[in-house]
Amino acid sequence: MTDEQRRAVITGITGQDGSYLAELLLAKGYRVWGLVRRSSTPSTGRLAAVDDNADLRLAYGDLGDSSSLRSLINEADPHEVYNLAAQSDVKISFSTPEETGNSAAIGVTRVLEAIRSLGGKARFYQASSSEMYGKVLETPQTENTPFYPRSPYAVAKVYAYFITRNFREAYGLYAVNGILFNHESPRRGENFVTRKITKAVARITAGQQETVSLGNLEAHRDWGFAGDYVDAMWRMLQHDEARDFVVATGESHSVREFCELAFGHADLPLTWDGAGEAEVGRDADGVVRVDIDPAFYRPAEVDMLIGDATKARELLGWQPRTSFAELIAQMVDGDRDAITDRS
Ligand code: NAP
Ligand code: GDD
Repeated sequence: MTDEQRRAVITGITGQDGSYLAELLLAKGYRVWGLVRRSSTPSTGRLAAVDDNADLRLAYGDLGDSSSLRSLINEADPHEVYNLAAQSDVKISFSTPEETGNSAAIGVTRVLEAIRSLGGKARFYQASSSEMYGKVLETPQTENTPFYPRSPYAVAKVYAYFITRNFREAYGLYAVNGILFNHESPRRGENFVTRKITKAVARITAGQQETVSLGNLEAHRDWGFAGDYVDAMWRMLQHDEARDFVVATGESHSVREFCELAFGHADLPLTWDGAGEAEVGRDADGVVRVDIDPAFYRPAEVDMLIGDATKARELLGWQPRTSFAELIAQMVDGDRDAITDRS
C-alpha cells in the first residue's frame, strides 16, 4: 500500500450503519463520499459528529438512478464501495414490494455495473442480511446455511447476495457479502422493535407516554451493536481474498427479554401475565401496559435467528465488544438523554 489517501464511497450514509461507518473511515484517514437522497426535510442528522470534516463529501443520488451512481464512482475513484442503501424495514417491504426490490436488489446490480464499467478496481461490500435465512434450515446459521426468505425484503436481499457473488465469479471483482445479524444503537430507526421499546421506556419514565403496543414478543433475534459491526465491514474489504462472512454475537434473545431488560434499566417494574399479554406496573394507581397489537404482526414471520461468526473471528480477527445488556443500557440512556436535552 502507498501513502495515497484511501477513498471510499458509502451508499446509505444517512442511515444508522452509514453514519457509524463514515465515522470509522474518517478516523482512519479516508476521504469519504456519501450518496444522499433528496428529501423534503434534512436527512443528515446522524452525521452530526462528522459533518464539518473536510474529508467528507456528500452527493445527491439514488439507487434507482444509474447515472448518479456512475458519476459518483467516477468522481470519487474509490478504493472501496460500501453498499448500505436499501429500503430496510421488513414489515414495510410487504407494503412496498416493488420499491424494496428496486433498491435492495436491482440497485445492487446498478452499483456493481457502475464499478465494473469504470474499470472494476474498487472493492465492493454488500450489506447482506440474516433475514435471508428466514424460516431457518439450520441452527446456528453460518455462511453455508441455505436461505429461505420470508418477506419481499429478504427475497430482494437474496438476489443482491447472488448478484454480488456473480460479479465476483464472472468478472473477478473483489465483491463480498457481509451477512449481518440484527444490529442496533441509539441511532437505530424508530420503527425497529428495539428502538421502539427504548424510546417508549424513556417517554414513559418522563410521563410523556402511557403504553406501548408491540407485535410478536416471542420472536428471537441475535442483536449486536452497530458500532462493532461496521468494523467487520471494513475488515472484510482489507482481507487478502474476497470472501463472504456472517457477523453475529452468537446469542439470541426474545423481544420479551429485550423489553424486560429495557424496562429494568429504567427501574420500571415489569410483570407479564401467563397468556402472553403484558402488564407493566409502576405503582398501584398508574399501570403502564404493553399492549399486544396484531397490526404489528407480519404476514410471514422469522421466528428465530442466531449466527455463528467463527469465520469472521478466525480470518478477520473480528468479535463483538458490546454485550446485550450494555447495548440496551446505551439505547435507553440515549433516549432518556434526548428527552432531557430537549427540556
Ligand atoms: P437504515 O438506517 O434504514 O438506512 C438505510 C439507508 O439507505 C438510508 O441512508 C436511506 O436513505 C438509504 N436508502 C434507502 N433507499 C435508498 C435509495 N433508493 N437510494 C439511495 N439511498 C437509499 O438501515 P441500516 O440499519 O443502517 O442498514 C444498512 C444496510 O444494512 C441496509 O441495506 C440494511 O438492509 C442492511 N442490514 C441491516 C441490518 C441491521 O440490523 N441494521 C442487518 C443486516 C443488513 P434515507 O436516510 O434518505 O432514508
Ligand atoms: N418493528 C417491530 N415493531 N417489530 C416487532 C414489534 C413491533 O412493534 N413487535 C414485535 N416485533 C418483532 C418482529 O415481528 C420481528 O420478529 C422482530 O421483532 C424484529 O423486528 P425489527 O426490529 O423490525 O427487525 P427485523 O429483524 O425484522 O429486521 C432488521 O434486521 C434484519 C437483520 O436480520 C432490519 O434491520 C433489517 O433491515 C435487517 O436485515
